[in-house]
Amino acid sequence: VNANALSLTGGESPIRKRADFRQALLSWYDAFGRDLPWRVRDGGAVDPYRVWLSEIMLQQTTVAAVRGYFLAFTARWPSVEALAQAPGAQVMQAWAGLGYYSRARNLMAASRLVAAQGWPPDEAGLRALPGVGAYTAAAIAAIAYDQQANVVDGNVERVIARLFAITTPLPVAKSALRAAAADLAVGIRPGDYAQALMDLGSTVCTPRAPRCESCPVARFCAGRAAGLAAGLPAKTAKPARPQRHGVAFLAVRQGQGLLVRRPPRGLLGGMLALPCSAWTLEPATTAAIAAAAPVRAAWTDLGAVTHIFTHFSLQLHVWRADIEGQDKSDGDWRPLAALESAGLPTVFKKAVRLGLGLR
Ligand code: ADE
Repeated sequence: VNANALSLTGGESPIRKRADFRQALLSWYDAFGRDLPWRVRDGGAVDPYRVWLSEIMLQQTTVAAVRGYFLAFTARWPSVEALAQAPGAQVMQAWAGLGYYSRARNLMAASRLVAAQGWPPDEAGLRALPGVGAYTAAAIAAIAYDQQANVVDGNVERVIARLFAITTPLPVAKSALRAAAADLAVGIRPGDYAQALMDLGSTVCTPRAPRCESCPVARFCAGRAAGLAAGLPAKTAKPARPQRHGVAFLAVRQGQGLLVRRPPRGLLGGMLALPCSAWTLEPATTAAIAAAAPVRAAWTDLGAVTHIFTHFSLQLHVWRADIEGQDKSDGDWRPLAALESAGLPTVFKKAVRLGLGLR
């Protein structure tokens, strides 16, 4: 057995072991931590705005996807005051493609609160901002304020499950993982420690084939000692995603296409979109679909695009009609060449590309 391995049941001088663990992790971070556009290294001044914005963008979203959006947002709106004054439609357009659009709506609401009242001074205050949940409040408190906080995301859950050889499957294990993480979280350089754990999880302690041979804390790892690391955390099988079906309508008249803005709440709320039918588990009848069309016309089915949402997969057929002769109905008609870059969510951008023969 490995005498260094971290244990949940005490063992010899757990506090000393914890300090050694943190020291090993922080030294590794100083040498190998990632350079990220929102990250400040070597004790530089941290701007809570950039930390907050990055953490909101990183919710359910990869670093690779966020990088460009973060740079574009901070170039256009360099401060929380600037963002608070931005027109909502511009922010939604800038967010288009990043997904989970309620984040953009909450971002605007939170920016206005902070511009008026200043940044909340601690984790509990941050938690009260729209769009800031337990994880994000802890991350901002640690990274922006260097306060003690237990920052636990999916990466950290994986690292902790392996370190302590916690074999209970997720999601049941969540509270045990949090508790184990909390025990290690106390100590020097809380902001760097939180980011070091995240980086370890995404570059070394990866979901498949963890690189234990280059892990700075392998000697503390009970999962490695037991030969269990690669298989942790165990997870209870999730139910399969249901398949939904729908139709998006591309009405074309005099070189323009018709867009709509979706209702403010719900899926893709507040975003620009193509008009569409309901997205249902059973494909709708042709008559039902035609009834949902924005204009009466001879529609052609051009095929379908697919898109994966969190709770379902969508097969979205694209029906197009060219209606040169008809009166122009009211609505948001845009030049066809401007549709692709209009700031549509990805599913509608795919549909526009299919509708315009761009792929
Ligand atoms: N994922 C979420 N927040 C992060 C951060 N601050 N650094 C790296 N990855 C992250």
